[in-house]
This record gives sequence, C-alpha cells and structure tokens, in this order.
Amino acid sequence: MNQDMRQDIEKILLTEEDIQKKVGELGAQITKDYQNKNLMLVSVLKGSVAFMADLMRAIDLPLKIDFMSVSSYGSGTSSSGVVKINKDLDIDLHGVDLLIVEDILDSGKTLHYITKMLADRGTASIRIACLLDKPERRAVPLSADYTCFDIPDQFVVGYGLDYDQMYRNLPYIGVLKPEVYEK
Ligand code: IMP
Ligand code: MG
Repeated sequence: MNQDMRQDIEKILLTEEDIQKKVGELGAQITKDYQNKNLMLVSVLKGSVAFMADLMRAIDLPLKIDFMSVSSYGSGTSSSGVVKINKDLDIDLHGVDLLIVEDILDSGKTLHYITKMLADRGTASIRIACLLDKPERRAVPLSADYTCFDIPDQFVVGYGLDYDQMYRNLPYIGVLKPEVYEK
C-alpha cells in the first residue's frame, strides 16, 4: 500500500458530505419510527463502526448500543455464510426493538445467519439498517429495512470498510485501484 493511502483510490464513490447528509436523514427517519419503542442498535465489528458512531448521534431518542464480532469462513472478498461468533452481545435482548447496523449488504449470508440467531432471543422486533447495498450480489433472500446507498458491484473501502484491514479511516468511500489487489 502507498504511504499516502489516498493514492490507492481510483475514484471516490461517495464523499464525506454525501455520507453525512444521508446518515443524518436516516437518523431523523429512525427517530420518527421508534417513538416509544425500546431501541437498541447492534453492529457487527469492525466495518460498521464509523456508520454506527454517526448514526447513533443522528437519532434523537433514548437507546442502547452493543457490538458483536464474528468471522465468516470464507476467503478474500466473498463470504461462505457459516459464521463463528468471536464476541457475543453483552446486553439481554428480551423486549428489545433491535436495529442491526451494517456497513454493507453483499451476498447477505452473514446477516441472514445473524438475524436468525438474534431473533431467537426474545426481541420485540428486528430491523436492518445498512449504509451500502449491492443488490446484484444477493445470494439469500434478505433486504434491509433502511438503506443509505445502493452501489454497483465494485469492491469499496473507507468509512469503516477495509481491504486487508486497511483504509477503514478514509472519511469517504472509494474504489481501490486494481494494482493494489494485484500486488
Ligand atoms: P456478505 O455476507 O457477503 O453480505 O458479506 C458482507 C461483509 O463482507 C461486509 O460486512 C463486509 O465486511 C464485507 N464486504 C462485502 N463487500 C465489501 C466491499 O466492497 N468492501 C469491503 N468489505 C466488503
Ligand atoms: Mg470486512
């Protein structure tokens, strides 16, 4: 990777302003939809941290947050759908209106597995909010209740999303130059 990580980006797909505007709007929508509910945001580490941090501050309601960490048995840029839990949630889900906060919905296999697992824990409701959606890539019947942006089938990094654990701290979402993969 280049010392100046911005040099590795072929093009910026979504600017910082695009993201902040949409996340603000989503927060306002969730604020309306979850009046008098028992809202809890759950995100899967680590790709969703930037989205989670911004979204929770755009929601003007009392809420709890929690995180889980999973690894999916797959390699490179695709997931198998078989998920191992590395860190489970700390907070009990009975009666909770759960909103799963995801960075990107790709094949949907990871989220399909997690949603089924969490639905067995006495939740009052479960919905999914995702920042990015690649609808063309879907391998299981799953859709998000809230989506910020539909994007084409391209591998993107930044605003939490990684390639080989790097680029998560870019403030925008961009497409990597092919030479970065080919090295
Ligand atoms: P799924 O189970 O195929 O939906 O996998 C979703 C996960 O794959 C996301 O939470 C990301 O960690 C990763 N992923 C999918 N597409 C991208 C991408 O374009 N850039 C970075 N990570 C991605
Ligand atoms: Mg990832």
